[in-house]
Amino acid sequence: MSEQEHADDTESVTAATSEKLVELAKRRGYFFQSSGAYGGVGGFYTFGPQGAALKGNVEDAWRDRFAVAEGNMEIDAPTIMPEPVFEASGHLDGFDDMLVECPECGESHRADHVVEDNTEYEDAESLPIPEVEEVIAEYELVCPSCGAGLAGQAVETFNLMFATNIGPGDSDPGYMRPETAQGIFVEFPRLKEYARNQLPFGVTQIGRAYRNEISPRRSIIRTREFTQAELEYFIDPETDEPDLESVEDVEVTLYPASEQNAEDGDEIRTTIGDAVEDGIISSPWVAYFLGVAKPWYDAVGVDMDRFRFRQHLSGEQAHYASDCWDAESEIDGNWIEMSGFAYRGDYDLSKHGEHSDDRFTIFKQYDEPKTVERATVDPDMSYLGPEFGGDAQAVVQKLEDLAARDRSAFDGDAVEIDLEGETHEIPVEKTGFAVEEQTEAGEHITPHVIEPSFGVDRLVYTVLHHAYREDEVADEERTYLELEPEVAPTFVGVFPLQNDDELEAQANEIVADLREVGLSVTYDDSGNIGRRYRRQDEVGTPFCVTVDYETVENEETTVTVRERDTTDQKRLPVDDLAETLSAIREGDLEFDEL
Ligand code: GAP
Repeated sequence: MSEQEHADDTESVTAATSEKLVELAKRRGYFFQSSGAYGGVGGFYTFGPQGAALKGNVEDAWRDRFAVAEGNMEIDAPTIMPEPVFEASGHLDGFDDMLVECPECGESHRADHVVEDNTEYEDAESLPIPEVEEVIAEYELVCPSCGAGLAGQAVETFNLMFATNIGPGDSDPGYMRPETAQGIFVEFPRLKEYARNQLPFGVTQIGRAYRNEISPRRSIIRTREFTQAELEYFIDPETDEPDLESVEDVEVTLYPASEQNAEDGDEIRTTIGDAVEDGIISSPWVAYFLGVAKPWYDAVGVDMDRFRFRQHLSGEQAHYASDCWDAESEIDGNWIEMSGFAYRGDYDLSKHGEHSDDRFTIFKQYDEPKTVERATVDPDMSYLGPEFGGDAQAVVQKLEDLAARDRSAFDGDAVEIDLEGETHEIPVEKTGFAVEEQTEAGEHITPHVIEPSFGVDRLVYTVLHHAYREDEVADEERTYLELEPEVAPTFVGVFPLQNDDELEAQANEIVADLREVGLSVTYDDSGNIGRRYRRQDEVGTPFCVTVDYETVENEETTVTVRERDTTDQKRLPVDDLAETLSAIREGDLEFDEL
């Protein structure tokens, strides 16, 4: 039987507006602006009980797919890191957005967003600053807050990292990490040992990242503190190949840079295998991870008709990436970036190798020993010792690395090395530099990195937005979230039909049984049964169980189980309830089949 009195066509249900969703999220405990008692602060959100559970389930699903199923390691690194890390990574110099300040009200805005929101430019972030200033003047763009003209205002760069001090005083600056990735890269020398020095291997991390966004907006889509789930996959670019066969038939919608640049360019529907063969996706590794990600996004509840992979335009690439594709979801007619799949090459490991005293390479054994010409150093320690004291060994390492990397650096009378931010000159004659023929068993190579980087908050937003439904049940308007059982915060709501000791005792027993098999259960005995169903529908609980007088009076103890989307109800024996609902939760059984 069904509560619905008409054929409910969910296809025709109007899509959620973000406004309705944000209101529901606050009212039902998904997410809301933090520190409301103190007026709230832009760009910081608290996930309430429902939101924290949904986010946790999404993170677990990500961990299952990208760490466990792929055989990757997971780590949990600190969120504050010292300044030299970000000098090396390039974030200190290059992690900037364009800022324009209103001459009237003093509000700061992202200049590229002002341009994109009010002109036909779609990717103003990739424009050089003088051009952005010109566009602002040409279109006579105004301050989004007060309407004053912005023409003639300087557009400046603004570094997005939150700065702090480590310990008392300001001698040891640190930064809140702007991406979880750096926590993985800096530990590479140790992580490679855990991987037994064998490439390829992957390291994942799920954790907070911080960006002091100029204009945080659209609730949890652009915040100043958010969660990333990142995988850094280290490969030998010469020999390692992905298991492309396992994903070659995955169908994808791609929006390559060439199509974005073409006047009549359009999205391309193809398969991962064909996209690689046709040269649309140049890196098979990036293609592999797109092929893994697409079914995963589908499984957690992203609507595949509102999903695509878009390639970055050349001016849009991050400073470390040579190619990057974003997974995008459609929200109220706009595409938002949920994740990026970047080919980072050897950028990060090389930089940390140059700036730190550790080795960010891996030893690659040859099939057979080779005789090669090698640049070596044999420094004069009677010179380095007095000159560098306790740092002498670090200098030796620097000289070795430099000789291996750039033997021309030893062409002159002196060679320059960087030690803790200071440049030192060492006479070449004291370095023992020589080029020799050596028989070698292998070489130290700097692995390349492929990085699938997921934003958890934007995914949570997308999942909620794509799940939002409105229909009519028994002549009443209903709002419900068609969340996938795998991610729904609560799997089943249990209600006694009325306030009655016997019904309540039976309902509590059922709650305990269901919790014992690991299901997430809520008990609700307040208000009429219709209202209780609506409450669970609105938070996306897939099933409700009602204990009524038939349950306690009949010889065979049965309950009513109601399915959220169809509102269909079936009577099921209590004895089988935990097993049946667990099977549905695991995807081994459909409610229809009962
Ligand atoms: N390690 C690579 C990296 O951080 P990114 O494209 O800057 O790449 C990855 O960030 C993901 O993090 C984005 O696709 C997005 O989902 C999420 N993200 C980035 N900035 C965000 C913000 N201010 N608020 C919420 N999510 C954000």
